[in-house]
Amino acid sequence: MAATDLERFSNEEKRNLSLGGHVGFDSLPDQLVSKSVTQGFSFNILCVGETGIGKSTLMNTLFNTTFETEEASHYESAVRLRPRTYDLQESNVHLKLTIVDAVGFGDQINKDESYRPIVEYIDTQFENYLQEELKIRRSLFNYHDTRIHVCLYFITPTGHSLKSLDLVTMKKLDSKVNIIPIIAKADTISKSELHKFKIKIMSELVSNGVQIYQFPTDDEAVAEINSVMNAHLPFAVVGSTEEVKVGNKLVRARQYPWGVVQVENESHCDFVKLREMLIRVNMEDLREQTHTRHYELYRRCKLEEMGFKDTDPDSQPFSLQETYETKRKEFLGELQKKEEEMRQMFVNKVKETEAELKEKERELHEKFEHLKRIHQEEKRKVEEKRRELEEEMNAFNRRKVAVETLQSQSLQATSQQPLKKDKDKKNFFSLPSGCSITSGRHVN
Ligand code: GTP
Ligand code: MG
Repeated sequence: MAATDLERFSNEEKRNLSLGGHVGFDSLPDQLVSKSVTQGFSFNILCVGETGIGKSTLMNTLFNTTFETEEASHYESAVRLRPRTYDLQESNVHLKLTIVDAVGFGDQINKDESYRPIVEYIDTQFENYLQEELKIRRSLFNYHDTRIHVCLYFITPTGHSLKSLDLVTMKKLDSKVNIIPIIAKADTISKSELHKFKIKIMSELVSNGVQIYQFPTDDEAVAEINSVMNAHLPFAVVGSTEEVKVGNKLVRARQYPWGVVQVENESHCDFVKLREMLIRVNMEDLREQTHTRHYELYRRCKLEEMGFKDTDPDSQPFSLQETYETKRKEFLGELQKKEEEMRQMFVNKVKETEAELKEKERELHEKFEHLKRIHQEEKRKVEEKRRELEEEMNAFNRRKVAVETLQSQSLQATSQQPLKKDKDKKNFFSLPSGCSITSGRHVN
């Protein structure tokens, strides 16, 4: 259909017709209900509160069952998220319930980063859903949606004010999840103190700009109850799975030496209000808000981060295809630039190494020449010394031969002229100057 036809079609006035008889499309809501029931529902609760504040007890009390409860230690080095999923059934409605515990919250000496693992967990669930949505073959129909629908934030019943950890964490979470603040272990705080505590908490949340979940008042059917309940926030709750006999009825309560705190007694605590609001009245709104508000925000930011836009700079619609093409070109350009940079870097590096190697070679050559010269000089000196020594040796040998000749001549002469002995002896010892006798026989 051409664009002009489309415009004409949408501008055409819609005409009301009355039906001649029953057609059957009034069963559409029933069809939807039946489809939803067959499909089942998922609901994911995040419990944030310090260790031992009563998170598990409250979950057990809320769903009237015993989920596995594992006590957390106070020595966790960081906050860690522990999800557990359960299949529940009430009448013919199946609910896949996931309870996520922020284990170790508030136990670290430095709590600056305590909120981070929680934010990361929430974002990861959004990311998983977005990835499923972006798949070519999506199966959102049977996808296990793990996005957090509500965060029950357990406030310690100090009666004073919120801790800065509470304010920082709630502020970091409020754009990502529906927060319902609750005062835990409300049986440990007196009625008048509780009233003041609630007012203080609400004023602190407002002054710090923390957005908590407001029960919706736009649906007439629940507007009244929801607006009344909004005024009761934060709910002060008591949890217990213990059953105590009150009158002739067994009720869930906490028993003390001075009396019994009944969990489901509205004059004792707000547990029933919380259960009504969370499960019976607003569960679907929490799921819807998660999808339309929090997930939508995450998706928009993520797609914008990836470079997708709905309109171009002239406010004209920008198609996904065009965005993809622009991004692809940008990416290829950048890739080429990077490649060129890397190639240039490689060439420079090779040149540098080559120059370094040449310099080293030159130095080595110089060193070799120097050593060679020293060696030749030494060799020459040694050669000279050797010649001198040889000459000395030759001279010595000549003198030695001369002395020996003289000795033998004088011996011969002595044997022939014994009378001339003294005279010859004298001659024998008057050797030419510079000559000396180093060895020889002693002559008498
Ligand atoms: P971790 O999972 O270890 O962080 O603890 P938790 O927050 O799940 O607390 P848990 O439910 O295990 O309760 C800890 C202790 O607090 C138990 O002894 C509970 O009986 C007690 N407790 C739970 N709820 C309440 C309550 O409403 N009032 C009082 N006074 N004690 C409670
Ligand atoms: Mg627990």
